[in-house]
Amino acid sequence: MANVINHPSRFLHLAISLIILIIFLIPLITFLNNNSLIFTIITKPYFSYYLTSFNNQSHQSHYPWRFSWRNTFINSLEFEGNVNYPSSSSSSNYSNDVSRAISPDFTKCGPVDLPPNAITSPYCCPTLATPFKFIDFKDYLINATYNKYKNNSSIIRVRRPAHLVDDEFIAKLEKGIAIMKSLPNDDPRNFIQQAKVHCAYCNGGYPQKHPFQDQKIDVHRSWLFFPFHRFYIYFFERILGTLIGDPSFALPYWNWDSIQGMQIPSYFTTPNSSLYHKLRHYKHMPPHLVDLNYDILSPKIRTQDQQISYNLAFMYKQMVLANTKELFMGSPYRLGDPAQPGPGSVELAPHNSIHDWLGAVDTPNHEDMGTFYTAARDPIFYAHHSNVDRLWELWTKLEGGRRDYRDDPNWLDSKFFFYDENLNLVRVKVRDCLDTKLLGYVYEEVDLPWLNVNPKPRRTKMQREAKKSSILASKPITKFPFVLDSKVSISVKRPKKLRSKEEKEQEEEVLVIEVTELQSYENVKFDVHIDDDEDMLSDENHAEFVGTFVSLPHGNHGHKSNTRFMVGISKVLENLEAEEDDHIVVTLVPMIGKGDVTIGRINIQFMSK
Ligand code: C2O
Repeated sequence: MANVINHPSRFLHLAISLIILIIFLIPLITFLNNNSLIFTIITKPYFSYYLTSFNNQSHQSHYPWRFSWRNTFINSLEFEGNVNYPSSSSSSNYSNDVSRAISPDFTKCGPVDLPPNAITSPYCCPTLATPFKFIDFKDYLINATYNKYKNNSSIIRVRRPAHLVDDEFIAKLEKGIAIMKSLPNDDPRNFIQQAKVHCAYCNGGYPQKHPFQDQKIDVHRSWLFFPFHRFYIYFFERILGTLIGDPSFALPYWNWDSIQGMQIPSYFTTPNSSLYHKLRHYKHMPPHLVDLNYDILSPKIRTQDQQISYNLAFMYKQMVLANTKELFMGSPYRLGDPAQPGPGSVELAPHNSIHDWLGAVDTPNHEDMGTFYTAARDPIFYAHHSNVDRLWELWTKLEGGRRDYRDDPNWLDSKFFFYDENLNLVRVKVRDCLDTKLLGYVYEEVDLPWLNVNPKPRRTKMQREAKKSSILASKPITKFPFVLDSKVSISVKRPKKLRSKEEKEQEEEVLVIEVTELQSYENVKFDVHIDDDEDMLSDENHAEFVGTFVSLPHGNHGHKSNTRFMVGISKVLENLEAEEDDHIVVTLVPMIGKGDVTIGRINIQFMSK
């Protein structure tokens, strides 16, 4: 420094070099941004390097300043369509667009990967208009060209329980679905075209954006699950309403979490109705009750009363005990990440298990509802997802309001594309779907019979402790990873015991099971128990049963998948009076697909509420 000050000529050199650098660097970056080939060549190593280090960091970490260049690069890759009307200033709302939000490269839709012996072709892509055009959802809601909807915006669509609607409603629903089925095959509003939207987003039809085009997007097993399906059925509902000329028309919700709603709504099973669907499990027609924790290999024999109480206890666990965003909504999934980081509770079951319960038994992969590429071909799919969406809405309000991902810009800016009722392609962002009222719909409220169930332990404290100490004394140390091919009990150390009330209010104690080598073509289900007796396992209505991992036959481009199973155990340990214990005994019980999954690791983590 002293040298520079003492020799003005050196200072001059430094200043001139700086100016030259600035003059040349800016046009160079601009040029590179506009030229994807050169850009890729130069930046690819840069991306891979940072993504590796990113992925090794905790999901919650905030981005240090040094990543801002990288973010700038990725932002500039965002493709923009030729919006076909004067755009509003709404884009400024998105000026904080942080660049690791997932966005499908919609123009690069390709054949999907299907499970073996699939009954449809792998082409699920919609026909694209050239030149490629889309409307941003924000503009869509406020633009004058959509006055028709503006005028209707005072109409709130009320989604009602499917078992409580009247004949007039049923007739409208039937008519709407019938019209959708009769539209030309390549019309985006056609019923099968709509079903294909689900196929493309679920079975790897869309690559992530350049330079991550090798990664296919999957909207399951991550924080995209709820928002994607919310938008998907939202556009489906608008199309239906428009086709029958009733803008107030709302989808019904299949209220399988209520006692009266636990069977298929009967009008979905009337032959000759547009709502009837052939490829369903023949034994599960009404008045058969749904098993929310269904096991396709060994369906349980239960009385109606038993099934109801097991279902309600199960609902309590999936909704009330899943009390952090990650437990309920699934794990963060960002640009460049491998798909399926970790599913939320309700997605695993009842969502997946009901898919399984409905799919036919004589089709190769329990088509149609039992596997995603065909699921939305069954009209009941939309009533099922209407209830799933309602549970998301309910969850955010439980216990005075639960925290979701709404302070994470990557979640908020994740994007999808859908066709609307006027055949416009609309680009939506997760941030646009967080308030159903702004989307123009609400759920009719009904009683929540599961809300206060809080299942108790099956055995006395003494019995539990006796069993636990004999297991802890006899079990050899488990070597990870291991193939889950038979029932196994593992002792897992707790990082902290006897946590204070305040600690428990801030952080949930979470059992995390790394699920690797998941054979994605197969149906897989394993149950998880804590401090149970593996020779006489508890059912859903007891505290010892804590959850289930369910995977439907999927395609994954020949790869096995890696994901994880998470379950909150603070309340369970309270109920089991095991809060002072150093270890818990975790019993894994493979139910379907024995040997089709490897357990990479099991540990306990604390997740903020
Ligand atoms: Cu995308 Cu019910 O699934």
